[in-house]
Amino acid sequence: MKTGIEMGLNRTGIGTSPLAAKASIQGAEEGVPLAGIDGSGMARVRADYVRDAEPIGTVPPPTSVKGAVLSAGQLLSGKRPAVLLDKLSERLAFERTGTRLYEALIAKMEAMPATEKLPLEEVRRFHDEERAHMQLVAAAIERLGGDPTAETPSADVDGVASMGLLQVIADPRTSILHSLHAIHIAELADNDGWLLLIQLAGSMGQDEMVTAFSAALDEEEEHLESVRRWMTNGVLAEAQREAATFEPGEAHAT
Ligand SMILES: [Fe+2]
Ligand SMILES: [Fe+2]
Repeated sequence: MKTGIEMGLNRTGIGTSPLAAKASIQGAEEGVPLAGIDGSGMARVRADYVRDAEPIGTVPPPTSVKGAVLSAGQLLSGKRPAVLLDKLSERLAFERTGTRLYEALIAKMEAMPATEKLPLEEVRRFHDEERAHMQLVAAAIERLGGDPTAETPSADVDGVASMGLLQVIADPRTSILHSLHAIHIAELADNDGWLLLIQLAGSMGQDEMVTAFSAALDEEEEHLESVRRWMTNGVLAEAQREAATFEPGEAHAT
């Protein structure tokens, strides 16, 4: 079974070559600019870019008459419907990513029969629930007259933030345990994302949303609990597994 935690000829650390390490450290010291590297130069450059930058995006105006009425504040008790639309779009983006994360995990599990210890049926159900959540949020956006296909600022930020998670699972070299680590991060954020959205919808008098989203949160809590358990059990079992024989000799050559 491919676990990614076997001992092998890994030469990434300086310990594999003490002589070259010494020369490398000396070279790095000689290459340090005299002005020092406290990060203040980088901070100044960043500050210049921040001052000149355009916003990352906007929330599109409602595409329906009903939505226009909502935006005018006649049906939404909060003052800024754009904030709710933006956070709904963010949730939609994340649930879409969640669906893809589980899709990739299922593909990996099917390709690695030795990992049948993860309950495939349960993982499939979690995938289906993520997809249903995505549809639930899309319908909520439509009811407000918004466009669920629009990329709002928070949806954009969310897409960028979760890119690495998908890359971990899509990488053919990563194990099921690596994939569970990525899904664990997603489920932690998922749970808090729904909590925030429920609070926001409640503050804007959207009681129907609060009820529907609370049911989604119940499912997310189950996802998190299961993923956490699979990950913990997997790592503990891995530590108990009989170690492969490894001869370190060559890795220490200088
Ligand atoms: Fe989710
Ligand atoms: Fe989830």
